[in-house]
Amino acid sequence: MFRGAGESGRVTPDPELELELTGLTHGGEAVGRLPDGRACFVAYAIPGERVRVRVVEHRRRWARAEVLAVLRPSPDRVEPPCPYFGPDRCGGCQLQHVSPERQAEMKRQVVVEQLQRLGGIASPPVASTVRPGGSGWLRGYRTSARFAVDGVGRLGFRRAASHAVVPIDRCLLLTDGTQALRDAAGDAWAGAAEVSVRTGSDGAGRAITLQPGPGALPPLPAGDIPVAVVRAGRPVALRGEPAVIEHVAGVAFRVSPTSFFQSGPAGAEALVAAVREAAGAGPGDQALDLYAGVGLFARFLAADGAHVTAVESSKVACDDARTNLRPVRERAAVVRSTAEDAVTRLAASGRTVDIVVLDPPRRGAGPELVSHLARLGARAVVYVSCDPAALARDARALAGAGYRLARAVPVDQFGHTAHIETVATFVPA
Ligand SMILES: C[S@@+](CC[C@H](N)C(=O)[O-])C[C@H]1O[C@@H](n2cnc3c(N)ncnc32)[C@H](O)[C@@H]1O
Repeated sequence: MFRGAGESGRVTPDPELELELTGLTHGGEAVGRLPDGRACFVAYAIPGERVRVRVVEHRRRWARAEVLAVLRPSPDRVEPPCPYFGPDRCGGCQLQHVSPERQAEMKRQVVVEQLQRLGGIASPPVASTVRPGGSGWLRGYRTSARFAVDGVGRLGFRRAASHAVVPIDRCLLLTDGTQALRDAAGDAWAGAAEVSVRTGSDGAGRAITLQPGPGALPPLPAGDIPVAVVRAGRPVALRGEPAVIEHVAGVAFRVSPTSFFQSGPAGAEALVAAVREAAGAGPGDQALDLYAGVGLFARFLAADGAHVTAVESSKVACDDARTNLRPVRERAAVVRSTAEDAVTRLAASGRTVDIVVLDPPRRGAGPELVSHLARLGARAVVYVSCDPAALARDARALAGAGYRLARAVPVDQFGHTAHIETVATFVPA
């Protein structure tokens, strides 16, 4: 079946063909060229492979195809370790068929290409991909997971490019403790829209959090596991204490059910190390931590001697951050505000800062924030990004505002998926 065939303006009599795959998208698909020159995106394939495909989606400038046979496999092709991985199964992972070394290199390549294409940087200085947790990097790294709920209440993940829920009882990305919590959560959640599980490091708390559906709440699972429900964006405890404690580089962080935290402590530790190195904070420095969450980066910037203002829009995360920054309170303040408003106010006041760390959501910071940010005069802008395309767009805006990219470090805290985190350092041009 052709999806989108109506928009294509083309009819392809034989949608099955052989393709030489040469490129890569930032969603982890390999890219080849159709005989008419259009790019064709192929999931579950690897650049360098020759494949037989069926074209399943036609657009004016591009097409999408599914693999029928791998005619010349890449030497980097491996047996996927998870039975749920593959077309029409779980959509959570995209790269389990790729060796660990090649995954790391592919992700670095994605960062380079996005910075070139969208960022307009001819030779971006991108370091090798950091793999948090060493050899354990690809397994058991997640301390939280958000499950969809199927029609009979089973927990699962969505199929790729679909709303269909694939029931999942084991996920190899979860830590043992988080998998045990998923087991304990069971599969009787009919009525809930989503169910999240989160464990603290070293057994420091665990919680199940549900997003309610339109009807009555499902009964809670037996036992004493803390459970919260999200109402108007805030967590309401139904049983026990649903905040957990994460430990990063020996420091404890309280994380409430709706507060953001990195995928796991090893990833957070690698990010913190990269941010500290890039920021080079010391006594006397004034630093801004924008999109601060529960205060992860602010805590270490203050430990390094800087005076830090952590800016975060979520009330619940701000409350966590105030708790987490208590040990360094003489050098750290939390401001509940959007980053946009905080930076605009600061720029209008004429005050300057030495260091800015920003870690926006996937959409990025945007050109308006960047233009005000540039007026703060920071010697280093350390940008933590979970989307290389958004990073690249903001890098272009930063270049227009007088900052050049000095270094970008991909940190793979999402092994087996196509996602990649990047810590990028910008300095005055
Ligand atoms: C990717 S998380 C980063 C959190 C933190 N830096 C960390 O590493 O744990 C983004 C954070 O930005 C917050 N946020 C979203 N939009 C915001 C905005 N416009 N202004 C300030 N904070 C925002 C979210 O609540 C979330 O805590």
